[in-house]
Amino acid sequence: MSKPKVIVTRRWPVEVETQLKALYDVQLNASDTPMSADELKLAMQSADALLPTVTDPITADIINVENRRVKIIGNFGVGYNNIDINAAKEQGVLVTNTPHVLTDCTADIGMLLLLMSARRAAEGERMILQNQWQGWGPTQLLGQKVTGKTLGLIGFGRIAQAMARKAHHGFGMKIIFYVPSAPDQAIVDELQAVRCESVDELLTEAHFVSLHCPGGAATKHLINEQRLKLMRPTAHLINTARGDVVDSNALIKALQEGWIAGAGLDVYEGEPHLNPGFLNLSNVTLLPHLGSASEETRTAMGNRVLHNIAAYFAGSEPDDRVV
Ligand code: DGY
Repeated sequence: MSKPKVIVTRRWPVEVETQLKALYDVQLNASDTPMSADELKLAMQSADALLPTVTDPITADIINVENRRVKIIGNFGVGYNNIDINAAKEQGVLVTNTPHVLTDCTADIGMLLLLMSARRAAEGERMILQNQWQGWGPTQLLGQKVTGKTLGLIGFGRIAQAMARKAHHGFGMKIIFYVPSAPDQAIVDELQAVRCESVDELLTEAHFVSLHCPGGAATKHLINEQRLKLMRPTAHLINTARGDVVDSNALIKALQEGWIAGAGLDVYEGEPHLNPGFLNLSNVTLLPHLGSASEETRTAMGNRVLHNIAAYFAGSEPDDRVV
């Protein structure tokens, strides 16, 4: 029997690409150049499985392409707001993601941004790199103490909980959170966490706010001008979730005018094109979407996709099916 045809849209860790070559008739993307909409449509017509990642927009137009052959989309990423899930559902195209394996690494980046923003680390490094450091001074680059402060989590899924553990057990932080659905009480108890009634209540109370909700229409600009004004002037906003959860123009204004003290961002509206306003600010820490970027995690994400498509081609239900 001939091997299923699989198309991968970007470079993946070598170990996983080697496996793909052994198991499938695979088309890899050696140049790592993102595929155009036309190339993605052609891929949908010529393969059994498409393996995109979180930066490939798999629109209804692409899913509805005539003579589609693809039956499964194995997304490399836990988030899948890059895929038109309704169109996939309507067309009976199965979609999988890669949960669990990137939880700790993404939570680590959340903590990294929190610490960097609180302690003005990026600003300090720029001072050194620009040869402007004149030596230690009692009032130089004073930031905010982290230990013992209140961390507010918007969303309370796996990554938020992992960050809460690090913050609570490692830094003695008090954890408050907002989530619309009922949280796991055992975890709430372990972290002595307090559930807020609303996003607004959380924003008013927290010293640090970290975003952990999914992207998409329901959460677009959840953090807007009005909500940024509710935060403490000493507070910091951390975003490792999705860029469009924050209105970037409003955040830039908040940082310029001192409504909040700082922000640590790993994701951006319209990334990789950042709102240019961020580039002139001293009180923002900017990372290029590094949440899951460790060798171990990216390999585990690839293996998770392999596991999902192997189940599908063996006629079983993939573990990480989202539709
Ligand atoms: C994901 O998997 O959704 C992440 O954003 C990639 O790091």
